[in-house]
This record gives sequence, structure tokens and C-alpha cells, in this order.
Amino acid sequence: MEAIKVIKERRSVRKFKEEKVSREVINEIVAAAAYAPSWKNTQITRYTIVEDEAVKAKIADECVLDFVYNAKTIKRAPHLVVVTAVLGRSGFEKDGSYTTPKEDRWQNFDTGIATQTFCLAAADKGVGTVILGIFDDDKVAEAIGLEEGQQVHALVAMGYPEIEPGAAPPRKEVEELVRFI
Ligand SMILES: Cc1cc2nc3c(=O)[nH]c(=O)nc-3n(C[C@H](O)[C@H](O)[C@H](O)COP(=O)(O)O)c2cc1C
Repeated sequence: MEAIKVIKERRSVRKFKEEKVSREVINEIVAAAAYAPSWKNTQITRYTIVEDEAVKAKIADECVLDFVYNAKTIKRAPHLVVVTAVLGRSGFEKDGSYTTPKEDRWQNFDTGIATQTFCLAAADKGVGTVILGIFDDDKVAEAIGLEEGQQVHALVAMGYPEIEPGAAPPRKEVEELVRFI
């Protein structure tokens, strides 16, 4: 698929078929996401693919700040991707000091770019995704046994779409988004 086409046709998918995405396809999506740019090429983004129903149910029932909509989406998805960041590299100097006034917020920037690249690569392969932001980082970290030195940045529910996603929700006009000076 052409880049512009996949960018425009990717939709958030919240209802999935039961069929699992193969390990091979998931690895190809992660390999593509690895090409996302990152702070000094630090490549801090990691992906935990949750397929275990008990772990998925725990996240849905106990880690989404009682936001039922997300709990339902997670339960319907054959895979839940937990996007995590290796801390202390992106935005930092070697001596541990911050490089810019944005301090450690470049970490979120990097995982954000990587997550969108992941979702675009998935869309290219016919795999549906939705980024979920409403969750409790620490509870999710505990549920997946996240290693020390990493932090949960996003959840992505993933699977083959149950129905063809509809038209994109409306986007702002270019004039509202851009300013030339
Ligand atoms: C940072 C972020 C957090 C989001 N959190 C949620 C969420 O908690 N639950 C949900 O159903 N969708 C969530 N979304 C998906 C957005 O609602 C969706 O991208 C937006 O409505 C545009 O629709 P589209 O992705 O189909 O173009 C999130 C998206 C982003 C980028």
C-alpha cells in the first residue's frame, strides 16, 4: 500500500475476529516499527504482546480506571500490545542530565512515533489496532511483570477487524492546522 493511502485509511478498530495474528506477522510489524526515528537512535520502545486471556482480563477489569469502553475493547481483542519505554536514554546526556528543557518528555515522543508506525505497519497487513490511553501505568506494569527501568506508555488492542472500518472521523482543514511565516 502507498504510504499516503495507509496513513489515510488506517482506522481505530475496536471489534475484532477471534482469529489470532501469527507470530510471524506480529514480528514483521515490530520490525517495521523499529524503523521509526528516535532520539539519537536510542530505540527505547518495547512491545509486550499479551495473548494470555487471564492477563488480558486482569488488565481489562482492574487497570483501565473503570473505563468500561476500553475494558470491552481489550476483551474483544485477541492481542493486547503493551508499549513500554526503556527509561533514562531519550532526552538524556550520558551523565544523566537532561539535554533540553523538555527534560524526559522526549521518551513519550519516541514511543508515540513508534506506536503510530506500529499501527500503520499493522494496517498495511490488514491488522486492526486502536491505541488506548485510559489506563493506570503502574497497574498494567504489575499485571505484565514489567522489568525494572521501563514504563508503560500505551496500550494497543490488536486483531483482524470484525467489520470493515467506516469512514474516518472528520479531520480539521489544512488552513486550521498550518501556519507559514
Ligand atoms: C494518545 C491516544 C489515546 C487514545 N485513547 C483511546 C482510548 O482510551 N480508547 C479508545 O477507544 N480510543 C482511544 N484513542 C483512539 C482515538 O479515539 C482515535 O484515534 C480518534 O478518534 C480518531 O479515529 P481514527 O483513529 O479512526 O482516525 C486514542 C488515540 C490516541 C492517539
